[in-house]
Amino acid sequence: MKKHILTLSLLISAVVLVACGDDEATTSGESNGDDVEEMTIKFSHVVAENTPKHQGALAMKEYIEKESDGAIEVEIYPNSSLFGDQDEYQNLVSNNVQFIAPDLSKFVGNNPQFNVPSLPFMFDNDEEAIKFWDGEKGQEILGSLEGDGVVGLSMWPNGGKHVTNNERPIDSPDDFEGLKFRTQGGQVLEAVYAALGAGSESIPFGELYTALDQGVVEGQENTFSNIESKKFDEVQKYMTVMNHTRVDYAIFTNTEFWESMNDATKEIVEAGIDEGTEVAREEAKSLNEKALELIRERGQVEIIELTPEQIEEFRTTLEPIYDEFEDEIGADVYEAAREAAK
Ligand code: LMR
Repeated sequence: MKKHILTLSLLISAVVLVACGDDEATTSGESNGDDVEEMTIKFSHVVAENTPKHQGALAMKEYIEKESDGAIEVEIYPNSSLFGDQDEYQNLVSNNVQFIAPDLSKFVGNNPQFNVPSLPFMFDNDEEAIKFWDGEKGQEILGSLEGDGVVGLSMWPNGGKHVTNNERPIDSPDDFEGLKFRTQGGQVLEAVYAALGAGSESIPFGELYTALDQGVVEGQENTFSNIESKKFDEVQKYMTVMNHTRVDYAIFTNTEFWESMNDATKEIVEAGIDEGTEVAREEAKSLNEKALELIRERGQVEIIELTPEQIEEFRTTLEPIYDEFEDEIGADVYEAAREAAK
């Protein structure tokens, strides 16, 4: 009798293992610890293909597949086609996807220090942001999801954000009065819009075009690359070049998956991530510049470029936000960010 129960429970365990294997990184074949393991890994993200994030992911895929002689397959799912803002993190935690590269400002619920890209006019360009996230404080913040079984691997930039809306050309803080904007989320972005006399709402990226089209919100802030590739200019009338906050990403992976790879496999995957990081960092600026040109050519939005005096007016209006969040984000984080921005 005991023997039957044992056989039955072994059988059930085998069925459960096979069923789970569908979602997790699928590994097969014998690994003697030295060979590269055969596996399929999934990389999910929410943006379009002609963006720095997708170009980085492609470079990573090409490198890993080539260097592993096809033993490792990397499947990339862009445009929220596998998971969107609402569920990609949970699915990473469950190891249903092995890599995601979300906008860091979407993690402020886990750690308020992820608000750094939303601090008004903190960084002028990608180099300054990269310097912060590659530095000690930045690395500490990227590592802070450890408790969820998530590893932060490397920061990938997109760029500065600009404001689009449907109501009026914006060139001073007063022009924001009474409008409602979609943000990526977080306390700092909420405070930015409140300081400008506007309302804000966080809406998943995959639902933003429809929200703008249907007037759920009058405007939004994003990089040129995201505005162009998602054609937000089709459903917006004005775009103000502000560069006041940023979209920056990090590659996150599942700890269990990360630690399960043997040395030969991990070496290739790590080098693939380095390759992706290099491409994403190299391409971000030029892709955003090209996107601005395309938006200009399409001519759907009126583009408002601010004078240095107008930018200064925004800077002064938003300056009190630094005091408001100093305790929550930390004086040490401000100091490291300011140092990187020098
Ligand atoms: C957004 O939600 O607007 C962006 O963060 C999307 C992205 O990943 O660039």
